[in-house]
Amino acid sequence: MAKWAVFGIIFLIGLFSEELRITSAEKLQLVYQWSQLKSSNSSEASQNVVFTANSVPADEDTFNAYGNLPMGVTHHKGFLYVTIPRRRPGIPATLNVIDLARNPSANNPTLDPYPNLLVNSLRRDFTADPKRIISVYRTQVDRCDRLWFVDTGYLEYPGGAGRQVQRPALWVIDLTINRSVRRFEIPPEMVEFGYGIPNIEVDVDDRDCGRAYAYIPDYEWRRLYVYGLTEGRMWRFEHNYFSFEPRYGDFNVAGQQFTWYDGIFSVAVGGRWENSAAERTVYLHAMASVSEIAVSNRILQNETMAQLGSGAYGRAFHHLGARGPNTQSSSHAYDPRTGVLFYAEINRNAIGCWNTHKQFTPENHGIVHLDNEEMIYPADLRIDSDGDLWVISNRLPIWIYSQLNRTEVNYRIWRQSASRAVAGTVCA
Ligand SMILES: *[C@@H]1O[C@H](CO)[C@@H](O)[C@H](O)[C@H]1NC(C)=O
Ligand SMILES: *[C@@H]1O[C@H](CO)[C@@H](O)[C@H](O)[C@H]1NC(C)=O
Ligand SMILES: *[C@@H]1O[C@H](CO)[C@@H](O)[C@H](O)[C@H]1NC(C)=O
Ligand SMILES: *[C@@H]1O[C@H](CO)[C@@H](O)[C@H](O)[C@H]1NC(C)=O
Repeated sequence: MAKWAVFGIIFLIGLFSEELRITSAEKLQLVYQWSQLKSSNSSEASQNVVFTANSVPADEDTFNAYGNLPMGVTHHKGFLYVTIPRRRPGIPATLNVIDLARNPSANNPTLDPYPNLLVNSLRRDFTADPKRIISVYRTQVDRCDRLWFVDTGYLEYPGGAGRQVQRPALWVIDLTINRSVRRFEIPPEMVEFGYGIPNIEVDVDDRDCGRAYAYIPDYEWRRLYVYGLTEGRMWRFEHNYFSFEPRYGDFNVAGQQFTWYDGIFSVAVGGRWENSAAERTVYLHAMASVSEIAVSNRILQNETMAQLGSGAYGRAFHHLGARGPNTQSSSHAYDPRTGVLFYAEINRNAIGCWNTHKQFTPENHGIVHLDNEEMIYPADLRIDSDGDLWVISNRLPIWIYSQLNRTEVNYRIWRQSASRAVAGTVCA
């Protein structure tokens, strides 16, 4: 069994960054932290080998601690689903679970492959296998105990070694039985390759678990794919608002300066659309952007509309406005109890907020947590069914453009109740 724990030497770093301290809101609380992920099989004399011998090519056999960068976190009923996209060889499992009850300490909790190691492992010759998961960025859990995610099917290895192992596919796993209940291959008419699919949001009917839709952004092709569970089909929307904004592509994170062109990246199902009892507002944004867009879910769920093209639905997408300087965001999520939208703000190491009952202006956007050392690159943000906010920060730009210091804490998982997080801020 490939349990693999994680390792870290914790250094308390003297914090004297020029932080904007938020006085009354309760900041997010640290739940878990790692310096580097590590194979649990360190008792072995050889390098941290996780796979059984000869199951995969040699470089896949060797656990690559630095390559195992955790990216997404979703909490559901005591379990954290943590993803590690395959951007380097030597990643035993792209989808993992942490059992909170069995990991009481904040340091180095154990990641178990989910639903098991076999489903997560690559075939020796990299041939396609619809029973396996190749690479996952982020997940979502719905109110019907189902875990949704897109397997990009793509190995993003550097140096021209990247390859599409199989078609990207939407998965739905029933968490009560740990079994896949739907796997839908995204057809080539939707998208040629899966590597631009970083995220997913699920919109389930209040009464009927069978009536569910997945909203799947594609930052590369700037499209939004919609999958209907009942329909068993996928359709797509295209819009200028899904593009990056040229003036907001410049990032400066922990000393790394870079330019990104990432389009539509996150989708969040909000409250009622205008005064309609049945329609919900769906919020979305590009990553290299500070704008927020809103559309009714009635539009997104209408396949006929999608097929008619942007001439038919273009005006249904509303540009709400700009959130404010340096508010470029990876994931965002809506908390129905407080009516607040929370943003993981990657260009200022912060978690931002906006109360959807207030006007959409920069002044009505607040900060619930900002930390230039410990919150570097909040890569994912989710809200669970208890109204708790979950965030993972992973220092991704340093990992890409420089080198992580392997003895410092690099990856952190955070939690706070949404109502406590906004107390005392403009979002309360
Ligand atoms: C650790 O490695 C040994 C020797 O290769 C192997 O027998 C054992 O199953 C491994 N344990 C785990 C937890 O992977
Ligand atoms: C499902 O998986 C979780 C996490 O690995 C485990 O704790 C639980 O017992 C499993 N449930 C069933 C019904 O197998
Ligand atoms: C879907 O959109 C088409 C085209 O605008 C419209 O005729 C139809 O009534 C819509 N269906 C629903 C269920 O709203
Ligand atoms: C890594 O971090 C540790 C602890 O902060 C520090 O002592 C060490 O000098 C750092 N190493 C490098 C190469 O910066």
